[in-house]
Amino acid sequence: MITVSVVKSQEEGAKLALDLLKLKLDSGANVLGLATGSSPLAFYQILRESDLDLSGLVTINLDEYVGIAPENPQSYHYYMQEELLAHKPVKASYLPDGQAADLDQAIKRYDALLEEFPRDLQILGIGRNGHIGFNEPGTPFDSRTHLVQLSPSTIEANSRFFDSLADVPTQAITMGIASIMAAKTILLFAYGKEKAQALYQMINGKVTPDVPASVLQGHPDVKVIADQAAASLLEELDAP
Ligand code: GLP
Repeated sequence: MITVSVVKSQEEGAKLALDLLKLKLDSGANVLGLATGSSPLAFYQILRESDLDLSGLVTINLDEYVGIAPENPQSYHYYMQEELLAHKPVKASYLPDGQAADLDQAIKRYDALLEEFPRDLQILGIGRNGHIGFNEPGTPFDSRTHLVQLSPSTIEANSRFFDSLADVPTQAITMGIASIMAAKTILLFAYGKEKAQALYQMINGKVTPDVPASVLQGHPDVKVIADQAAASLLEELDAP
């Protein structure tokens, strides 16, 4: 089931998300799935400035580029250090190893980790083409961790973080769609009008691998936090 909260600002969205995380921690949650991109930034800010103790928490990220070192400011390893982990110590944090000599091994290890640490809460963003993690349109719903070729639209969208289009990695390791669906609760942030179409298709559209996020219609507990621009095409909204 998907519930949508429409917020006036990302700060308001971050507060809602922090409240949800607190509830989860109070009820014994100890594994948090993390996402990168611009959508969760306000949440990480409020979290690192909060007095929440995360030292008992294991974090597991959705994805990482292939061929970029953790020290590279464009890597998701670096992003997580900057935005959260360097400020808020956790018990253990994991991201896929995009630099592994044997990527198949790295992928198997990540699947084993996901089995070992079932996620209580998974943070998500949504791509403009409806991707979640780096699961591009057409990814099978039963996919686990895998290597992906990024679509031209994703490379283009992510190029804003790089010096040039040519610097954007073309491959990534991502949790699969089944891996994302295994989280007990999913919290998805969607901000800005360029997400409106993807959010509409995710919530009101047909469930199809052409729109990876549409799989979430079959998940028991999905909470969406969207601003008015991203929610502008939605057909029905829950009362605020
Ligand atoms: C990237 C990430 C996704 C993220 C998406 C949207 O492709 N791999 O996990 O959800 O971008 O990013 P943003 O939140 O910056 O719009």
